[in-house]
Amino acid sequence: MKQLEFNRHRRLRQTASIRRMVRETSVKTDDLIYPIFVIEGEGVKNEIPSMPNVFQWSLDLVDTEVEEAVALGIPSIIVFGVPADKDDVGSSAYHDHGIVQKAIRQIKEKHPDLTVIADTCLCQFTDHGHCGVIEDGKVLNDPTLDLLAKTAVSQAEAGADIIAPSNMMDGFVAAIRHGLDEAGYHDVPIMSYSVKYASAFYGPFRDAAHSSPKFGDRKTYQMDPANRLEAIREAQSDIEEGADFLIVKPALSYLDVIREVKDHSGFPVVAYNVSGEYSMIKAASQNGWVDEKAIVLEKMTSMKRAGADLILTYHAKDVARWLKETN
Ligand code: PBG
Repeated sequence: MKQLEFNRHRRLRQTASIRRMVRETSVKTDDLIYPIFVIEGEGVKNEIPSMPNVFQWSLDLVDTEVEEAVALGIPSIIVFGVPADKDDVGSSAYHDHGIVQKAIRQIKEKHPDLTVIADTCLCQFTDHGHCGVIEDGKVLNDPTLDLLAKTAVSQAEAGADIIAPSNMMDGFVAAIRHGLDEAGYHDVPIMSYSVKYASAFYGPFRDAAHSSPKFGDRKTYQMDPANRLEAIREAQSDIEEGADFLIVKPALSYLDVIREVKDHSGFPVVAYNVSGEYSMIKAASQNGWVDEKAIVLEKMTSMKRAGADLILTYHAKDVARWLKETN
């Protein structure tokens, strides 16, 4: 009988140790950024109904959550604030005693080595729920920039290690870089949400952060999910304006964009594995339809394989725990 000619790819899959030797991508606890929601009040630990095992924390309790992340070896958290008061210009976003500023001060005092990232946006803090100043039903670009710069400076003053602006106004990185530099914070990096799509995957976050727009949507500032080349232009602008890290958000439906941004920029790229992506997996696992650990680790691997250097994810504590078990 004639011998067939073909390649034997299975040679490298024979044993667990050979598979480990040829594995191209790995996920490490060092890659993880863990989001924490802080809220005014006392004794509050509210589970977000659409995000099982994710909580809003008041400042007297939040340390248990931070401690847990630190004990698991997670190097970095990002803080999202839920303020008590909102107004038309989101002034609680840049108040010295805003919820985010207080949280950062408290967390940095206890955990000076933990990298604390501040999400810099206005939508949680404005009564209309948009990410900028409104006039005649429109979100104004340039007048919003001053408020963002003020917010970033107040977060840096509170001790934020990294500023992460998420509001998608044009020029936000330039405005924030300028504001930080003028205030003497040359060394505070900007992790820009460079490529942020107008996505339906943010639904559960808006429950958690009370940040839904009261009218209209965010399509005049967040990107159209159909666009890939525009993502490169957005990333390019942020690089020119002084960004140090580039976030792509959401992650899982946009792995092609992560790859593109990584290849074009050569910058550290962050995949934001958003709330809807988290909740879908949680719901399916709670029903016993998928194996949560296996599916989450596969997801993490896929984001790294696509080119992400870091992963911002609500699964971070579980991932850190699972990585400990397997090693
Ligand atoms: C604030 C902000 C949002 C998210 C992060 N920062 C919501 C939005 O743009 O509506 C979404 C995060 C998530 O879904 O996990 N602008």
